[in-house]
Amino acid sequence: MRRGAVVLLVLYAFRLSAETAPLIANVGARKTFSLDGVWNTIVDPYETGLSSHFYENAKPKTKSDLVEYDFDHSPKLKVPGDWNSQRESLLFYEGPMWYQRYFSYQKREHMRAFLYFGAANYLARVWLNGKKLGEHMGGFTPFDFEVTDQISDGENSVVVEVDNTRHAEGVPSIHTDWWNYGGLTRSVELVEVPETFVEDYSVQLAKGSTDQILISLKLNGIPLFPANAKGEMAPTVIIPELFVKEQCGDMQRFGVGEYLSCSVRAKPELWSPEKPRLYHVIIAAGEDHIADRIGFRTIQTRGTQILLNGKPIFLRGICLHEEAPFRGGRAFSEEDDRTLFTWAKELGANFVRLAHYPHNEAMVRLADQMGLLVWDEVPVYWEMDFQNPATLENAKAQLQDVITRDHNRAAVALWSLSNETPISPARNAFLKSMAEYARQLDNTRLITSASDKAEHPDDEHAALNDPLGEYLDVIGLNEYVGWYGKYRPADADKMQWTFKYPKPVIVSEFGGGAPYGMHGDKDTRFTEEYQANLYEHQLGMLQKIPALAGMTPWILMDFRSPRRTLVGIQDYYNRKGLISDRGQRKQAFYVLQKFYQEKAQEKH
Ligand code: GCU
Repeated sequence: MRRGAVVLLVLYAFRLSAETAPLIANVGARKTFSLDGVWNTIVDPYETGLSSHFYENAKPKTKSDLVEYDFDHSPKLKVPGDWNSQRESLLFYEGPMWYQRYFSYQKREHMRAFLYFGAANYLARVWLNGKKLGEHMGGFTPFDFEVTDQISDGENSVVVEVDNTRHAEGVPSIHTDWWNYGGLTRSVELVEVPETFVEDYSVQLAKGSTDQILISLKLNGIPLFPANAKGEMAPTVIIPELFVKEQCGDMQRFGVGEYLSCSVRAKPELWSPEKPRLYHVIIAAGEDHIADRIGFRTIQTRGTQILLNGKPIFLRGICLHEEAPFRGGRAFSEEDDRTLFTWAKELGANFVRLAHYPHNEAMVRLADQMGLLVWDEVPVYWEMDFQNPATLENAKAQLQDVITRDHNRAAVALWSLSNETPISPARNAFLKSMAEYARQLDNTRLITSASDKAEHPDDEHAALNDPLGEYLDVIGLNEYVGWYGKYRPADADKMQWTFKYPKPVIVSEFGGGAPYGMHGDKDTRFTEEYQANLYEHQLGMLQKIPALAGMTPWILMDFRSPRRTLVGIQDYYNRKGLISDRGQRKQAFYVLQKFYQEKAQEKH
């Protein structure tokens, strides 16, 4: 079996959800029926709904029947969307919420149907016509259920219980510095596919090559046998602009459930932030055809440099949360995403860190189109139950799902395993295992993590010796010199940084808070002047780091956080944005913009 097939075979070792189906790739290119819109909802803090069988959506048959819930007359919520920003009374709500809606469907012969969720935070239990389909845990990755046998010809009722209660053994765990938006936060769709369909595919340049395209695809359904001499049914990948038409797998029998792989010689124009060239790619097998737009590029390290298409690149980045500008709440639409990325581009960025969890798929596809390299992260964040095998399985399943979803995106350059986790043998083993799994799943991208475990032997030196670095291709450093701790912004000027591992360093966080419009002298906390001054000194300090390959200051836009309670200044917002949640640029925005303009002119 070719290497490509082996790599992807491992993909399905970890499933973290009872009865969910294998993840269908590129649902956006398939025949789908949107279930977005207004859903009936019941807030159920004591989770009465399970014992009262809310999933049956029962109605009293006689006037004396006792049915203590009624979806049809219950309050409504929009899907996609978190519930916290839709109803004042739900802003702080954490707990079970029941969603229900009707939809009609016409069954078609030789077609299968899947219920697909872009994401639901945190635990989702799903029923169709009163029959349990299964559960999914993890608030930021897609999942689906096959409903070919359960779905009715005509009216159907789907019920979803979503519970965003935080758990110590969860991923993330109890403590975060972002709002725990609950609900069906991304689109819900009914996906229709032929009996045999292409469940997943990968079309990427071979590691370090610019003229060999490796193709792997996996069929789901009944095996295909060449229906006719022309082998039209054979799994085939077509890239018209490259004159590629390649059949994959042996010509006798095209198995299902295993990856068929092949490779083809071609010389694509390479994708880069300056030139985000995407190619039309068609994957066909049997009755199934999917179109995608894929870019080809190579990403590697050489010593302390990061090489894009074989050339050193400096990653002019910015961090962002998946929060909607202006209206607030979880971002989910391309419009939300485009606003955020347009601001990043205006800043002069060629790179974004999507913190601290997989953002919506539209965001990553937009990065492909707009030319922004991406740091894609799973929410292994701060203190976690590192000893717990179920927590590791959960984290691995989320890693697997984001890699399955995004592995054809040229923009995605780094998989990040964690953020600011405390050093311990259990944590090191946990992340070592995650790193190995990530490499098994995708050996063409760089593995990283963000550590804030730097030490200061004295006031002029800082060293990051976190053992985690051993397992990584790129070291991520979070440091808040000038904001947290005893140092003031100017102390950065004399700070010399050293790193245990001779690898490229991305300063994945630095920054300070200031509500837009708060002014004063540069030494006054929470003023724009303090924040801008901090950036000036930071940029001076960081440029002296020989291994510096990029940075993603914290953060593009102010975002909601339950930890930020300083009235009149934070008001439950983390104010470290360079832009306010209302789109107002702070002084520090222009400090960084100027630095990136100069950096972009620099020859490597
Ligand atoms: C941490 C953390 C962020 C947090 C930031 C802050 O470094 O990674 O999630 O928001 O610091 O304190 O503002």
